[in-house]
Amino acid sequence: VASVSQKTALLGFQPVPASTADTFVVPAGYRAQPLISWGDPLLQQAPAFDESGTQNSQAQAGQFGDNTDGMSLFPLAEDRALLAVNNEYTNYEYLFAHQGKSMSAEDVKKAQAAHGVSIFEIRRQADGRWHYVQGSEFNRRITAYTPMQLTGPVAGHPLVKTAQDTSGTHVLGTFNNCANGQTPWGTYLTCEENFHGYFGSAQADLALDARAQRYGLGAKDAGYQWHTQDERFDLAQHPHEPHRFGWIVEIDPMNPESTPLKRTALGRFKHENAALVLDDTGHVVVYMGDDERGEHLYKFVSKHKYQEGQAQHNRQLLEEGTLYVARFEAQEGALEGRGQWIELTHGKHGLTAENGFADQAEVLIFARAAATQVGATTMDRPEWVAIHPNKQSVFCTLTNNKHRGKKDHQPVGGPNPRAANHYGQIVRWYPAQASHISQAFTWDLFVLAGNPEVHQDLYAGSANIHADNMFNSPDGLGFDQSGRLWIQTDGNYSNAGDFAGMGNNQMLCADPHSGEIKRFATGPIACELTGLAFSPDYKTLFVGVQHPGEDLAPSHFPAGGQSKPRSTIMMIQKEDGGVIGS
Ligand code: FEO
Ligand code: CA
Ligand code: CA
Ligand code: CA
Repeated sequence: VASVSQKTALLGFQPVPASTADTFVVPAGYRAQPLISWGDPLLQQAPAFDESGTQNSQAQAGQFGDNTDGMSLFPLAEDRALLAVNNEYTNYEYLFAHQGKSMSAEDVKKAQAAHGVSIFEIRRQADGRWHYVQGSEFNRRITAYTPMQLTGPVAGHPLVKTAQDTSGTHVLGTFNNCANGQTPWGTYLTCEENFHGYFGSAQADLALDARAQRYGLGAKDAGYQWHTQDERFDLAQHPHEPHRFGWIVEIDPMNPESTPLKRTALGRFKHENAALVLDDTGHVVVYMGDDERGEHLYKFVSKHKYQEGQAQHNRQLLEEGTLYVARFEAQEGALEGRGQWIELTHGKHGLTAENGFADQAEVLIFARAAATQVGATTMDRPEWVAIHPNKQSVFCTLTNNKHRGKKDHQPVGGPNPRAANHYGQIVRWYPAQASHISQAFTWDLFVLAGNPEVHQDLYAGSANIHADNMFNSPDGLGFDQSGRLWIQTDGNYSNAGDFAGMGNNQMLCADPHSGEIKRFATGPIACELTGLAFSPDYKTLFVGVQHPGEDLAPSHFPAGGQSKPRSTIMMIQKEDGGVIGS
């Protein structure tokens, strides 16, 4: 007789095969449909999407931004919620009829309006499906020009003062908002990633110092051409402007009039997400990856403690605290070991004026240099961090790193065990005594992605990788309340050579205890899947499909026919109304 207490498998769905189709595929017994796509109208007066690429900046500023990324859900009532969603960047080949080949000042404004954050209401209908509400009083677009406040130790510092803002506290906008975080006091955290790519200069021989170069800044931008039409983005004219980006921004989604706050105590780097946990002591701990080859993994510990029900107090918790960076101990050949968090505080561990750090603000603005100074471990591009609901373990996707083993400061070993790592891995660590404020931890590798059909060595992947669940470049990561680990990929979708059999980018689900991994969904052509949020009953899962058809790859997702591909949030439900993944 089967006991009712007999443990049912955590992963209850039939896995889907790899796919190269231009569709979003979910397991048998599930359905997926679009919730909202780039250009759908959010504000009351906004026009409907028009795929000609000729709508103006004002239209875009009232519509859902492009390239959906990290997102969080904030419940309003049983059948009402807000979604706060990052719009990371935009693809000029689709944004403009001229595909970016003849940018005007108005075009730059439109591109700036396609970036940032979208906040909007969603409602559940009688049939259980959610839809978004155009014109809800909560709906808001945050763009590269929304007024924000710089707060914390860097606010008012000479290095963040500009000709337009002599106070060094009033910043305009946010862009390249990658992934996200959510606080227990009801705010949304949006993380500024590749901010450098929006700055450039007409002065081609512009010389920048090593600290600026470390962030990728230079006269040549990433192709957005903002500096050609908007002098705020010309580095020769406004050298401090980039110091005002690369932060984590805290937003109150419930108040569309609120001013977003850039929280400088959490450091300036190419932020991926912000995984927040309330430690048993009451301190708020935020884990953060810096997504670049050979960069680092950080954590912030709040100075003050969370107090249940004290909203005003809690809203200041990210204002003040201690930043740390991870050092992993590596033992020859071992795929596990110990590690420690090293404090990034002015005056400690060589973070002194003699070494180029005049004060704590400089430690935070140039967090990458500070991390190097204290001997942090160079990682294979730390992307999302996710914390197990039992709070005992933490996971981070290390997406890939073609430079591993080729550069002196990126030696092979520890949690980065493969040279020319094009598959990626997920590292897991256990804070000592399950205390997130502890400076000691132990680590192992939850999975090494790889291709066992092509390789027999470490590039085949770890034992939990096989022909039917292969993937590369894990990126998005999150837990549901039952402890399923959800993994999204942003990798090579050629389906050839080292990547044969992997197909399009995909979403997988893992049992962190057994190590089992099953493929849950596959995305359309040339997309990545990024961003996930659950309804409070865990019966709806929202998943972001970013840049389908990038670089003019032949996608017509989601509308099909000959339509222009559009970044889209998918709504996934079980046909029997059950919990996702069960
Ligand atoms: Fe925006 Fe590192 O991904
Ligand atoms: Ca990412
Ligand atoms: Ca990525
Ligand atoms: Ca992306």
